[in-house]
Amino acid sequence: MTRIVVVGSLNLDLVMQTPRLPALGETLLGGPFSTAEGGKGANQSVACARMGASVDHLGKVGDDPFGGRLLESLLREGVGVAGVHACPDAPTGVAQISVAGGDNAIVVAPGANGRLTPQDLRADARLFDGAGAALFQLEVPLDAVAEGLDLARSRGVPTILNPAPWQPLPQEVLDRVDTLVLNRVELAQCSGREGAEEGLERILERGVPRVVLTAGAEGAYYRTREERGRVPAPQVRVVDTTGAGDTFVGAFAVLLAEGASLEEAVRWGVHAGALACTRLGAQPSIPVRREVEAFLGERSAPR
Ligand code: RIB
Ligand code: NA
Repeated sequence: MTRIVVVGSLNLDLVMQTPRLPALGETLLGGPFSTAEGGKGANQSVACARMGASVDHLGKVGDDPFGGRLLESLLREGVGVAGVHACPDAPTGVAQISVAGGDNAIVVAPGANGRLTPQDLRADARLFDGAGAALFQLEVPLDAVAEGLDLARSRGVPTILNPAPWQPLPQEVLDRVDTLVLNRVELAQCSGREGAEEGLERILERGVPRVVLTAGAEGAYYRTREERGRVPAPQVRVVDTTGAGDTFVGAFAVLLAEGASLEEAVRWGVHAGALACTRLGAQPSIPVRREVEAFLGERSAPR
C-alpha cells in the first residue's frame, strides 16, 4: 500500500452560507451555519486516505475541544496522528468561510498551526522513512516546511508543494520541490507572469522539474521539460469549491506515488476535485476512490 506523509495545517471550518458576500461595513443576514473539519494539510491527508493510501499527518492543534475533534476525525479516516501534537499555549486553527453561490471567501486564524517548528518535524523524522510522497502547503511556518522538505529529500521521498496561501519562496525551498501544484493566482505570484504557459515555463526555469496548474472549470495544465498537456474538467453543478484544490492534490499525489503517468495522475486529481465542488464543506466533500473511479468510467465510456 502506498504511504503518504502530509505536513500541514488542521483547522476547524466555520461555514456560513450567504446569498452574496457582504460589502465593507455591511451586516448581512445569511443562511445556515455549519462547522466542518478543514485546514489545507488535514484536507490533503483525508483526500489521500479516501483514495486508499496509508497516511501519516504531521502538524499542531491546540489543547482544546476543536483540536480534539480534528484529531478524532483524522483517526476515523485511518490517518496516523503520531505526528500531530497538542500545543499548550495556542488555540486550534480556525477558518471563517463564507459561501455565496459557489464562490467563497476565507479568513484563517492559524493558532497552533503557526507553532509548528523544524524541531517538531525532526522529532518525527521516522515518519518520512519509506513514504511514497511527502505533501506540503503554506498554512504552517516556512522554516518547518523547509525542514520537512529536507527530511523527505534526504530519504529519497518525492516532494509535492502546494504553495497556498502564497508567500514568496526562497530558491533553496524551490530547489527541494519535485512537483509544484498551484492555482492561477499563485502561479502569477510565483512566476510574475499572467499567462498559463509562460508562468509554467518560468517556474521550470527556476529549477522545479514538474509543475501543475489547477485552473477550475478549465481543468489542469501540467508541464515538465519533456511533457506538456491539459486535462479538461468535467462539468458539474458547483455547490462549494472549498476543499477542491486539496482534493486534487491528494488524489494526484496518491496516483503519482502508485506509479501512474503524470497525465493520469492529473486526470484523477481533476475528477476528484470536481466531485468535491458538488458538496458543501471541505472534508465532508472529499470523494472516496470508488466514486472517482466511477466518475472517470462514466466519462470514458463509449456513447
Ligand atoms: O483549502 C481549503 C481550506 O482552506 C479550508 O478547509 C480552510 O480551513 C482553509 O485552510
Ligand atoms: Na466542497
